[in-house]
Amino acid sequence: MSIQFLNRQGDFSLTAADETSYLYFPIGNEGGVMGSITPNLNGDSKIGQNAFLLEPVSIENLHSSNMGRNMWVKINGSIIWSIAGTSGEQQIHQFEKGREEVTVTGGKLWHLVQRRNERIGIQSDVLNYCPATKEKVEIMKVTFKNIGHQRMNLVPTVAVPIYGRSADNLRDHRHVTSLLHRIRVEEDGVVVTPTLSFNEHGHKKNEVSYGVYAREDNKHKPVGFYPILEDFIGEGGRLSWPRAVVCDDIPLCKTGTCIEGMEAMGGIRFEQIYLETEESKTYYIVLSYNGEGLKYLDEFEEGIAFQEMKDYWKKQSTIQCKTSDDTFDYFAGWVGIQPTLRRIYGCSFLPHHDYGRGGRGWRDLWQDSLALLLNDAKGVRNRLVSYYGGVRIDGSNATIIGLVPGEFIADRNSIVRVWMDHGLWPLITTNLYIHQTGDGDILFEENTYFKDSISNRGEGRDGLWDGQTSQLRTYSNEIYNGTILEHILVQHLTAFYDVGEHNHMKLKGGDWNDALDMAKENGESVAFTAAYAGNLATLSELLTWILEKKNIVEVEIAEELVTLLFQSESVYSSPLEKRKVLEHYCNLCTSYISGKKAKIKVVDLISKLNGKSEWIKKHIRSLEYIADEEGNHWFNGYYDNHKEQVEGVYKDKARVLLTSQVFTIMSKTATDEQVSKIVNTMDYYLYDISVGGYRLNTNFEEVKTDLGRMFGFAYGNKENGSVFSHMAVMYAYSLYSRRFVTEGYKVLKSLYLHAMDFKVSRMYPGIPEYFNKRGRGMYHYLTGSASWFMLTMLTQMYGVRGEYGDLVLDPKLVAEQFDEQGSTSIQTFFADKNITVLYVNKNLKEIGDYEIDEIYLDNKLYTTSEETAKISRKDIIELEEGREHTIRVILS
Ligand code: G1P
Repeated sequence: MSIQFLNRQGDFSLTAADETSYLYFPIGNEGGVMGSITPNLNGDSKIGQNAFLLEPVSIENLHSSNMGRNMWVKINGSIIWSIAGTSGEQQIHQFEKGREEVTVTGGKLWHLVQRRNERIGIQSDVLNYCPATKEKVEIMKVTFKNIGHQRMNLVPTVAVPIYGRSADNLRDHRHVTSLLHRIRVEEDGVVVTPTLSFNEHGHKKNEVSYGVYAREDNKHKPVGFYPILEDFIGEGGRLSWPRAVVCDDIPLCKTGTCIEGMEAMGGIRFEQIYLETEESKTYYIVLSYNGEGLKYLDEFEEGIAFQEMKDYWKKQSTIQCKTSDDTFDYFAGWVGIQPTLRRIYGCSFLPHHDYGRGGRGWRDLWQDSLALLLNDAKGVRNRLVSYYGGVRIDGSNATIIGLVPGEFIADRNSIVRVWMDHGLWPLITTNLYIHQTGDGDILFEENTYFKDSISNRGEGRDGLWDGQTSQLRTYSNEIYNGTILEHILVQHLTAFYDVGEHNHMKLKGGDWNDALDMAKENGESVAFTAAYAGNLATLSELLTWILEKKNIVEVEIAEELVTLLFQSESVYSSPLEKRKVLEHYCNLCTSYISGKKAKIKVVDLISKLNGKSEWIKKHIRSLEYIADEEGNHWFNGYYDNHKEQVEGVYKDKARVLLTSQVFTIMSKTATDEQVSKIVNTMDYYLYDISVGGYRLNTNFEEVKTDLGRMFGFAYGNKENGSVFSHMAVMYAYSLYSRRFVTEGYKVLKSLYLHAMDFKVSRMYPGIPEYFNKRGRGMYHYLTGSASWFMLTMLTQMYGVRGEYGDLVLDPKLVAEQFDEQGSTSIQTFFADKNITVLYVNKNLKEIGDYEIDEIYLDNKLYTTSEETAKISRKDIIELEEGREHTIRVILS
């Protein structure tokens, strides 16, 4: 039992797929259809929290519900057989030898299940996908084949229960909401249009209809319908043994029938057919929202849609590598489409989900944009600018982004929370954008600030806020605008002063680790204080470029900010003084802002930001670098609500968190010597190859209610000690960025090998949020680790990255990644040009032993005068449009 790759597109197959539980595959599109499907055709389909066509499923419903897609055939008048394997007979034989064979073949983004029953002599091939258009529709193509030795007759019935309402109504008014249903039988199917969208806070007239339609391949229409769930099941029947199919004694409804107030069923009966041996018959089914996509009931249109969908998804995985290991390349191809999936699905809409209500969180939005902009920087620019409108003037932000860019919601559960890491991510993404494009002007674009009643970084309330506006205004009631640079300064300068007793930034509602949420009053995150120090340095580097290359010597910022910028170093060392400065600033702009701008010299800005960055790094190095008796060294990353240092040795056991090391390394707070020691310590305490590599932490063996809910989770799961891909990949990134290449490679390789070890990981190709204590991949597809994986692979491992718009080539590849000819390549888009960088290392030299000898741009020798190998943007822009270009880099 393993995943077999079939071709260079990364299509794969899995035999006996129904013998693994919890497998699911995404079926969605840019039209906003968000579906999932399992080998048994379970899963759901929706276009939002309040519009599910198929009944919502969470992970445990995948094997307990029969409300998914299905089609039945009655064979030779007596055998009842389901393409989903749900008939009692099929279930009895499931674990037996000679049972039905179920093979899943998966491609981007289509899912094919073949179910073969030799005993009965029947096979079904079920293909599901959504077209690449914006139509809200899922296409399902079912082909029956007679694999027996005798002619057979089949009576086919499509059986897809239509839920047609909000996920909230699973329990809340489940029955009453069925009374809203208006069911209409049309020529090709059953459609439900509820009268209202039920919500006790205010019912709304419903606008969405949900339909299941089907046709036989030679365009035959159905002969009748079962539009009501309870009729289809029949008295005493079950969805896994429906009376309508088994006894055939339920009258069929005709086109034109209307029914009010019942649970609906996409029950569609076709005429009896005869299949000779080896003969087959196809049925086209569409799961449609608002009647969209009915043209796909036609064989020809379906064929076009399938090809276009494949082309579309190929374009989404534009970063493609070719190493010595084909399996790695295919795996990376699947990781490559995950950022797009998260853009479509958000964080909630697959069967594994934390919050189940949709929307995208602030930090996820920015980090997903990392990979998205590697593919299409231009397309992402406006979105980045609009996201800055979610920043509050106190440096905190709205946490949820609505469907349209620029639409923000303070918090999904209306809880006042500030995550202290949120200010960090926008600059990380913006910095990448500037380097990839050379577009420093983005810093001087303007946007508004988000306004609600929350003030003083979650610790105050604005009594004057009228609830009418969500944009900050000046005292003269004009909407206030500031540059993106100003927004970034607001985020970092406020954070700098928002410290706890040990002069590290307060943990507040949590940091990257959502589950460190119980130390709001006194907790501190040293890990993310280090990360902010890294960002302060990044910002001053960007400003140095702006000054030197763009000749901008002065910038304008909100007058109120000046106080945060120019404080003496003596203030830095006093948490009390710092908090006073912050309070003063927040009070100045709680309800309104003056609107006055101050002119600041860029040199002053650079020096002030650098000063702050250096001060933090020194402070952390001097206080938080800790050791145990065995000579292991690492950084403490947290203080708990009792103001105690979290990491170290406690009751003879080491308490170590990976996060604390990742951000001290990435921000260059840790010196090179310290990084070496930390690497050994992580290997010693956190490395566990049986679960995919580096765990998030050691076992504290204590439910630390003074730090966070994570300590309530069983060790080895989620944020408590699992191998959490996101942090592991960021660990790899930080190691590569510090030129600890073999160490970084080890992190990625461990994750990849484990993910592809199907017997343990039990997941389709790609990267999961984490591997649980049994090594199973969890929360597949929708994880920020995918974006970081692509970023690390392209810009660090292959070293193909922008530097203020130019293209740098700085390979950090280990010898085993080159094939027998000494080649390895990566394909990406840069300056809108399709570029493949091919590294040739004929003598298979190891990292450290090779350097760049020659560069050929489309076979012409390219000379660069700079110390780092660089191709100027100008030369890339001049390359011919619409074709692939190769940069061949000879290493010696
Ligand atoms: C998830 C969340 C992310 C959070 C992380 C740790 O990670 O989406 O915001 O920082 O858990 O709590 P992901 O699913 O992106 O891997």
